[in-house]
Amino acid sequence: MFALVTLAFPESFCFFKGLAKKICRQEKTQGDTMELQRFVLEMLPQLLECGNAAAIAVWAREHLQQLPASRDELTVLDLSMIETSLAHSGVPIPASLTSLLMNLTNGGPFLTYHQLVMVNPAQATRCFTRGPSGEAERAFYLAHKEIEHGLAMACAKIMKALGHTDPQQACNALHGIEHDTSVLIENTRHLAGMNPEHFAAFRGYLASHPVHGFPGPSGLFSPGVYLLELLLRGPQSTWPQFFANRGTCFDNESLRSITGAMEDGHTLTAHMISLDWPPRMHEVVRFLETLLDSFRGHHYKAVRKQIPQALTPGGTGTAGESAGQFLRDRMRESKASHRNQPTKRE
Ligand code: HEM
Repeated sequence: MFALVTLAFPESFCFFKGLAKKICRQEKTQGDTMELQRFVLEMLPQLLECGNAAAIAVWAREHLQQLPASRDELTVLDLSMIETSLAHSGVPIPASLTSLLMNLTNGGPFLTYHQLVMVNPAQATRCFTRGPSGEAERAFYLAHKEIEHGLAMACAKIMKALGHTDPQQACNALHGIEHDTSVLIENTRHLAGMNPEHFAAFRGYLASHPVHGFPGPSGLFSPGVYLLELLLRGPQSTWPQFFANRGTCFDNESLRSITGAMEDGHTLTAHMISLDWPPRMHEVVRFLETLLDSFRGHHYKAVRKQIPQALTPGGTGTAGESAGQFLRDRMRESKASHRNQPTKRE
């Protein structure tokens, strides 16, 4: 049948040949990325555990030549996992891998919070460790994923409420927001209770890049926390500078929402006042104010339990400064902003 068609229509033969070649290329490409996925999921944690990161570099040199210059987010995550493993193990990184990632990420950073938390699939979670620390590591990424989903839903509701000038409609838009945001506290408390030895086993891979100095994938780059605070009460004083310097550590969509909210400056608190303090909106504002303070309190406790050394003078973090001082400054500014919120005159 195929021969008949091609005899009668030589042009369609070219089309079929082209299509067949394209399908073959696609299958090959999918085959290569499947092999990459299998390697990262199964072999990478095993090789890291037995201290054989050099074998990861050998695999990368042999297999990555065939990889397409794909912008598929999962492929970029897999390549970044390999690059990060090598960098933190002190093994020379194949130049081909660095240039591939430079192209795919527009010059870096390579492993971002967005990739590790949002792109990393819940069903086949990429981890650096295995066994009990691997389970803790997977739970760590999934807890952050759940937080980001909850906060994204809450932020969407606030944006909707900001669009309503009718108080009732604006309050209706906020329905269920306490439930959406409660994951922030629950999961932070849960992570504080992790076995610190398990956390220590994978924490090193989340540190700043030892070769390029790119910041590591820290909660410092959680879009949800920033957007929630911005939409509730506006930015902290250091944020415009922070986003100017560290904007590339966020995914484009989140960065657009954050900078958009910062420029727009419309907050739920201001909206509540302009609508003459609708009781339900006032309740939500008070709830979210307390939630942010409470989050930072539990977060500080989690850091003290998991990495007490980061809180001592000179203990640096991803922010490239004293992590303890940095966290205390953010907590202080958050509390001051809460205190300075306008109060209703009866
Ligand atoms: C075991 C749990 C956690 C530890 C040990 C931890 C550690 C840290 C550290 C050391 C910093 C300082 C900056 C840096 O060096 O990266 C930081 C900042 C930050 N982390 Fe976490 N973190 C944890 C859980 C979380 C969770 C669950 C979230 C929620 C998304 C989060 C969000 C943030 C934010 C927003 C900052 C910036 C500081 C602020 O705005 O208050 N972290 N974290």
